Formats: sequence, C-alpha cells, structure tokens
Amino acid sequence: MQYHIFNDDWLLDKLYKLDTPCYVYDSKLLEDNLANLNLQIRNCLDYQAVVHYALKANDNQELFTIIKKHNLGVDCVSGGEVEYARRAGFSASDIVFAGVGKTDNEIIQALKQKIYCFNVESQQELEVINQLAAQEGLIASIMLRVNPDIDAKTHKSISTGKYDNKFGMPFSQIIDIVNNLRNYLNIKLIGLHYHIGSQICDLSVYKELALVVSKHYQKLESYGVILSDLNLGGGLGVNYSEPEINPLSNFADYFSILNKNLTINKNIILHFELGRSIVAQCGVLLSSVLYTKQTSHTKFVILDAGMNDLMRPALYNASHKIKVLKQSDIYDYYDVVGPICESTDIFAKQVKLASPVRGDKVVIYTTGAYGYVLANTYNKRDKIREYVY
Ligand code: LLP
Repeated sequence: MQYHIFNDDWLLDKLYKLDTPCYVYDSKLLEDNLANLNLQIRNCLDYQAVVHYALKANDNQELFTIIKKHNLGVDCVSGGEVEYARRAGFSASDIVFAGVGKTDNEIIQALKQKIYCFNVESQQELEVINQLAAQEGLIASIMLRVNPDIDAKTHKSISTGKYDNKFGMPFSQIIDIVNNLRNYLNIKLIGLHYHIGSQICDLSVYKELALVVSKHYQKLESYGVILSDLNLGGGLGVNYSEPEINPLSNFADYFSILNKNLTINKNIILHFELGRSIVAQCGVLLSSVLYTKQTSHTKFVILDAGMNDLMRPALYNASHKIKVLKQSDIYDYYDVVGPICESTDIFAKQVKLASPVRGDKVVIYTTGAYGYVLANTYNKRDKIREYVY
C-alpha cells in the first residue's frame, strides 16, 4: 500500500519509537487528497468554486499549513478559529464564519478584519451584526443560513438540516428577511448558506440539496434579489469500515451530483465547507494493549487510549476499524475499551481481533477528523500527542 499508515511494518516501527497513545498523520495521503480535491473541482464543476476547510475537524498546525498550500479557504465557527486562521497566514477574504452563537466581540473582530462573510443563523443575529457594523462604520457581507428540512440520512447527532435542529432558518423566514433588507443598512446579502449534516454517504442527499438550493435561488431571483454566491456546506462521508480501500475521498461523485442538479446562474461562486473528507483518512490513533481480561460473557482488551483521546465512539456510537498489529492465525471477539472510569469508554464491541496480549500494538483508523480536536484530559490524563510524517 502506498501510504505509510496502511503499512503495518512502518506503523510498528513508529509504535516502538513513540509513546502511546498518540495520533499519527500521513502528510502524503493528505497532499494526495487535496490534489484530488482541486482536480475534481476543475473536472466536475461548471462554476467558480472555493473550498473552505472546516478547521474544527483538525486544527493541527502542520496539516493546516499543507491545506493552505493547496489554496483552500477556511470555515470558522469561533473568533478563536478566525484568529488561528489569520495567524496561519490565511487572508481575511479566505474566511467564512458560521455558528449559531457568535458573541458581539467575535463579530466586531471579524468585521474589522473584513472576512469574506458571516453565515447568519437567525434574524436576531442579523440585527446584531447590522447594529455592530453600523457602530464600526462598516458593511457586513453575509449569507443567510437556510435550514432546508432535508434528512441527511446520517447519525442523528451530526444531522443539522432538519427543522428540529438549531441551525439556520426555514426558507419562509429568509423570504421575510429579504423583503425587509432595506432596513439593514449595514448588511450586504451575497448568498445563501446550507450545511445539512456530516458523514453523509448516501449521495442522493446532495441531489436533493441541489434541487432545493436551485428552487430557493430561483424564488429569490423572481423577487429581484440577485445573489453572487451560494455555500453548499460540507458533510461528505468517508469509509470508516475499510479505510485502505478509499484513502482518498470521492470528490468526483460529490461535485458531479451537485453540478448536475443545480439550475442556477453559471456566474455564481460556489462555496464548500469540507472537513472530514479532507483529513479523516490521513490520521490513525496508535495505542498499546495494557491488559486483557475475561468475564463470564465477554473478553476485554484494555488499551492505553481512552474516550478522552478519541471521543467519537462514546459520543456518537461511531465505529472505527481497529487492528492488532501482529500476524496470528488465532482470532476471537473482544470488547475494546479504554482505562477511563466510565462505562461508555468503549471503542468497539465484539470486534474480531488477532488474539491480543499485553504490550501488543493497536491501530484505530480514520481518526484524522474530530479526533485530537475533541480530546481532553479527563481523569487528569495527559493530552494525547500528535505526530506528522
Ligand atoms: N460547515 C458547518 C457549518 C459545520 O457545522 C460543519 C461540521 C462542517 C461545515 C464540516 O462538516 P464535515 O465536512 O466535516 O462533515 N464531531 C462530529 C462531527 C461534527 C460536525 C460539526 N460540523 C463527528 O465526529 O462525527
């Protein structure tokens, strides 16, 4: 296999040199994925397009530098992220700023820097931005975030585009706002923003999104509102069960299905906010077996990594491929758990493993997105380390 992180010998070598647990990132895989992303933008889209990297997925500085080199913008969801992106050398015009709870201070700082736009999530937020922009003598470029009530067919905890989610506004409210835009003197509406969920694997969801976006665009056009931009969010899913089969994301199908189903002016600038599909597969979590034990029903493998290091399984019941790095003909079924004093500290239940023993090395794949960023020091543990190769 061409990538280090899918080469067991390379991993074992690293595992004996590094203290576990730790995250290891494969920069070559990330570079190839980004090159493919830019290629597919050119091949599959009839529009000018900007991909904003969703910084929340992984804010590792070295990876961020690689991402910058490939000409992406940044999707930020806090003043801290805006500041971090600026410090990493991104220009303000590369930055879009989303989130349902922007503080006054975050808005003022972003306004002063002249970011590309705010993705506005409620009428009240729009009023506050208008008022703060007036106070600063500035005009705020904004997109209105639409909640299109689309089922993203993903885990309910990472679905954002249904009416019972806190994100965005129903299109009827958008119409009301647009009809009253003249009252917002310090606002410049440039487009609509959509982000309906994460880890979306059923691409027909994106067809549905493109059809709804086109309908909304045409409706506003019929009111004489001319938009210059549309932001279709992110959410493209990755292969957690067999990462080595799809190390690179399927950007071609993703862009093609959107392109085919959009009926909007070809001069529109499209924006995307991709996180997971850019960084998930380039990261693995390396760990060691501390103990094994057996109760009346279950065989347990206890790792030195815990839910504080990788929260996804405990938070969303997420499943990641797990492998014991050794050759063995003897396999059995184990619950793989961490050392944290919580019953939810489980990485996988009844997973087939090559009979692990104390000291064996274990890899948890596809942890480049929403891994380290969610890690914490619960139980007074050290913050897990990251290494980029
Ligand atoms: N845009 C907005 C407004 C978002 O809220 C998100 C993710 C993205 C873009 C990027 O979505 P992506 O392309 O990465 O799917 N911690 C969860 C995922 C939370 C996603 C939060 N928002 C997990 O580990 O599955």
